[in-house]
Amino acid sequence: MTKTLEGKVAVLTGAARNIGKHVAIELVNRGAKVVIGDVLDAQGEATVKELNELAGEKVAAYIHTDVTTYQANKAMFAFAETEFGGVDIAFLNAGIGTNANTMFLPLDDAMDDRMLDINTTAVVKGGKVAMLYLAKRGGGVIVNTASVAGFLAGPTMSIYNASKHGVIGWTRSNDIYKHVCNVRMNAVCPTWVDTELAVDLAENDDGNPFTEIFAKMPRVKAETVVEAVLTLIEDESRNGEALLALPGGVIRPQEPISRFPELVSEEFLNIATQKAPDTVAYYKRKLEEARKREGI
Ligand SMILES: NC(=O)c1ccc[n+]([C@@H]2O[C@H](COP(=O)([O-])OP(=O)(O)OC[C@H]3O[C@@H](n4cnc5c(N)ncnc54)[C@H](O)[C@@H]3O)[C@@H](O)[C@H]2O)c1
Repeated sequence: MTKTLEGKVAVLTGAARNIGKHVAIELVNRGAKVVIGDVLDAQGEATVKELNELAGEKVAAYIHTDVTTYQANKAMFAFAETEFGGVDIAFLNAGIGTNANTMFLPLDDAMDDRMLDINTTAVVKGGKVAMLYLAKRGGGVIVNTASVAGFLAGPTMSIYNASKHGVIGWTRSNDIYKHVCNVRMNAVCPTWVDTELAVDLAENDDGNPFTEIFAKMPRVKAETVVEAVLTLIEDESRNGEALLALPGGVIRPQEPISRFPELVSEEFLNIATQKAPDTVAYYKRKLEEARKREGI
């Protein structure tokens, strides 16, 4: 294995087990150091121990992180800097699947907020903190874990689908920062992988026929998900992109129409092109203000 990521440092959320752990292993294989933030402390510590033993040196560290708060996200990135000198890669992967089939569940604020807080808003919060740390390092890449559920939809996973559509919208909104501070942002969109989260999403004992349908749905191999994530990290041309990880391999979906003809005039295109350098300069100023404000 060529050490293509030698000298790089990655922060991964939700990597105590399953998809996140697979990605952590591959990052270490390619020479990176990794910091794992999760709420499953025993599994997170065990994963880090396994990675350090495999490498024969300290390549991994764990920090308890509930991704829903800025405080925890800031502590995780600061910890990575203290442990390994800075951060080049962020894999924002933590997620939940519980109570996704929400329509006739109780009208419970905390239940629905929790899904969006962890799956969507935490990706925004982690992304904002990551942007400042990666910019400080001179550039880097953020990969968010969305899902095929970020493109497709159905009642069984309704609020989960909404949460992952949100991750794709957020990711596509941030392609300008490559030009501002050399930070790219992408999203990986796997179909089913057999994990605890998938079971939470699809299996139930209340007679929903989806449980039987789910059992027959094609799965993607974890290696394919890892391949998609590593492509989004290592291929510098990938920016604002969502890559699917499917049983047949890694696929780039057709991008949505970003400019409907009714919304575009020649005048608009001219001013948008003319103002592109000013827009980049504006965000460079905003970045410096944000770094100063946050002390990063
Ligand atoms: N398994 C699938 O079929 C599938 C398909 C597409 C996308 N995904 C996405 O992949 C990601 C990883 O899921 P997985 O399938 O490996 O399941 P998983 O449950 O093993 O992984 C999710 C991880 O996120 C962590 N987590 C949950 N809430 C957290 C919080 N508040 N703060 C920090 N960490 C938290 C969990 O402890 C766990 O380690 C998720 O975002 C999931 O939505 C999964």
